Amino acid sequence: MRLFVVTAAPARQKTDCAIVGLHEASAFAGAGAAIDDALGGRLSRLVKAGDLRGKAGESLLLDTDGAPFARVLVVGLGKKGAFGRKQYRKALTSALAAVAKTGAKDAVSYLAEAVEPADTYYDARLAAEALGAALYRVPAIRSTRQPPEPALKGFGVAVADAAQKAQAQRGLDQGAAIAAGAALTRNLANLPANVCTPSYLAQQAKELARTYKTVKTQVLDEPELKRLKMGSFLSVTNGTDEPARLIVMRYEGGRAGQAPVALVGKGVTFDSGGISLKQPPGMDEMKFDMTGAASVFGAIKAAAEMGLKLNLVGVVPACENMPSGRATKPGDIVKSMSGQTIEVINTDAEGRLILCDALTYTRRFKPSVVVDIATLTGACVIALGAHNSAVMSNDDELAAELVAAGRRAVDTCWHMPMGEEYHDQLKSNFADFANACGRDGGAITAACFLAKFTDGLRWAHVDIAGTAYLTGAQKGSTGRPVPLLMDFLLARV
Ligand code: BES
Ligand code: MN
Ligand code: ZN
Repeated sequence: MRLFVVTAAPARQKTDCAIVGLHEASAFAGAGAAIDDALGGRLSRLVKAGDLRGKAGESLLLDTDGAPFARVLVVGLGKKGAFGRKQYRKALTSALAAVAKTGAKDAVSYLAEAVEPADTYYDARLAAEALGAALYRVPAIRSTRQPPEPALKGFGVAVADAAQKAQAQRGLDQGAAIAAGAALTRNLANLPANVCTPSYLAQQAKELARTYKTVKTQVLDEPELKRLKMGSFLSVTNGTDEPARLIVMRYEGGRAGQAPVALVGKGVTFDSGGISLKQPPGMDEMKFDMTGAASVFGAIKAAAEMGLKLNLVGVVPACENMPSGRATKPGDIVKSMSGQTIEVINTDAEGRLILCDALTYTRRFKPSVVVDIATLTGACVIALGAHNSAVMSNDDELAAELVAAGRRAVDTCWHMPMGEEYHDQLKSNFADFANACGRDGGAITAACFLAKFTDGLRWAHVDIAGTAYLTGAQKGSTGRPVPLLMDFLLARV
């Protein structure tokens, strides 16, 4: 796909499809007005006739026979004053999905001129992300014929003056890298658990190292995990025949010797709950329980694609959580790599059991910061729904950085508290602490459990249980929080 910036007057810009916006209860302005003029008022007549209302989510595709722009797609922008980055990305995603169904070989978007507040770089970056989302297809495992590839091969964004061209192009390029990372995340997460196993993830990590010479991958198998004394991680994988893996990906884009940012992702390729077995409704969705891991893969890919000037290390504990005669039982006590002992009250609180050993392992890289990403708790979904991820941290500034990155990238997260009172809920009569407690504040107590392994680290935990995937008719991975992570990393360069 060719991504480009255009500066020509809209009526003179050659393209297969010009994408212009119309606010509700308003006349055409900017590029829309210019194109309307060039078409002899054809667009404004449609407004008068009531065919075009500018409602958010509505659009109309017109053939222009002969103009430099072969088609015009008019996109409803909703009420004036309510068209922010989020609405912009959404409108452009559905517009591009519509364009991709036509024979148009290229398209030019004029929607950025309506975004408030305007920002050339972000408007271009979000446009490239919208394109990625519009063209994304679930890796098909259907026997029926696939829909044909879209004809679209080029996509341009318009900027008001030539001085903004370089910024817009940088936005497009970085947006394309983020979109490529998010597509990898979505592909991995959407795969069924009988394909996407811990060994499959390990292969994909090696594939990343083959594709990018800036990426190096190391895979540790169970005997090595035993030698490292990862008793907590290994306790989760007891019940399955599928071997566990610890996957380490290093991206080297910064100075040699510069402390890396560590990203640790929960890679439970299927979470049945183990002996604390889950209920059948929605259990299929527990194939998405490796989305934290998939978002680390996505971030590494995006970093490599954009040549991010930073060192990164991605650490992914990958395993299945299954019941069997050999499975860990409620009440069992396990010893983590840190030496701390854990009473496994609930085998369904397995994410923290694998992450704690991965966090301890991450210390060897002497990271400047550690961010773990996990579909960790149902309680997080209850607290924040599908709209915000939760962030907890032992460093308020780090949490604030993540919240700000999420706002800028339109991939938001919300800072939740931690504290002694919550830690107390994890007390155990038999071990150093328990892996689970009552339901109150469940997203927070899970973070407190992880905090017990992060002394001396600058650490944040992002719970993506609500944001990682959609359920119902739209079921599938969202690619979140790759945009958030990339914005956080870009801000550190
Ligand atoms: N993978 C789940 C969390 C989850 C639930 C993610 C719903 C997405 C949607 C996690 O392993 C889990 O089962 N957590 C338990 C913890 C509890 C037993 C303390 C939960 O949230 O119920
Ligand atoms: Mn679980
Ligand atoms: Zn889980």
